[in-house]
Amino acid sequence: MRTVYLNGDYVPENEARISIFDRGFLFADGVYEVTTVVDGKLIGFDGHIERLQRSLKELDYTYKVEREKFLTIHRELVSRNSLDQGMIYLQITRGNPDDRDFEFPPIDTPVTIVLFTQKKQVVGTATEVKGLSVISIDDLRWGRRDIKTVQLLYPSLAKMEAKTRGADDAWLMQDGFVTEGTSNNAYIVKDGKIITRDLSKDILHGITRKSVLACARLLQMEVEERPFTIEEAYTADEAFSTSASGFTNPVVTIDGNKIGSGTPGPVGDKLRALYLEENMKAAV
Ligand code: PDD
Repeated sequence: MRTVYLNGDYVPENEARISIFDRGFLFADGVYEVTTVVDGKLIGFDGHIERLQRSLKELDYTYKVEREKFLTIHRELVSRNSLDQGMIYLQITRGNPDDRDFEFPPIDTPVTIVLFTQKKQVVGTATEVKGLSVISIDDLRWGRRDIKTVQLLYPSLAKMEAKTRGADDAWLMQDGFVTEGTSNNAYIVKDGKIITRDLSKDILHGITRKSVLACARLLQMEVEERPFTIEEAYTADEAFSTSASGFTNPVVTIDGNKIGSGTPGPVGDKLRALYLEENMKAAV
């Protein structure tokens, strides 16, 4: 059984209790982060903490995230759960107002803070060799996808639609252009150039995205940050996705169309290797 963190305490997972009035439960009024652990170390920790603070600010939370406090909790959970590879999930909600009300609770209502570990193989996975098949579907999420909120019903429905149709994941589309994957950023490669949607309110500003694009520049690869259509993706030489827990994962078919040779491509493979090397050096 896992030891989880809830509002200052480390408790067995089956003893962690949250109110039925919690804003996270009733209004999906909460934000989250997922930080990957490799060899017991945290990947991209500072990026996740910065984005967490930004998400809270964008939703008018006054809570200030203290880096050291959260680093301690992350490390404590890694140690108490003997986590070698996997993720730490962190969620902060607007707390328990003791009733249901569309208005925010009083400003001094304490936020709810939950963290727990998830064991998962993240290095040397079958997916990095085999690649992913994706389908495209309409992006019906709200207009502030740059905020990492816990409103994940639509991404979850999209993922299930992909599974039902025999695929691994869905790429979401707005006006014919790909925004991102259900829980990852999306890329194509054409004539050696990496193309990925530019940062805006339309997509999550991935921590992995930032690092992978920095790796691309280190490798002297050309990067174009702009929206691309799904048709452009069909005829790309290569496609891949990025996320904290997936690093870079090759996308080998889209809507049944083979991308390039239909096997993981060299650009994604090189980026994955350098991403891991750089981020393992910097892990805390
Ligand atoms: N998902 N886009 C969306 C919609 C996401 O949910 C995520 C992350 C990303 C990639 O961001 P990052 O590189 O910072 O992980 C892009 C996490 C992993 C999740 O929901 O489990």
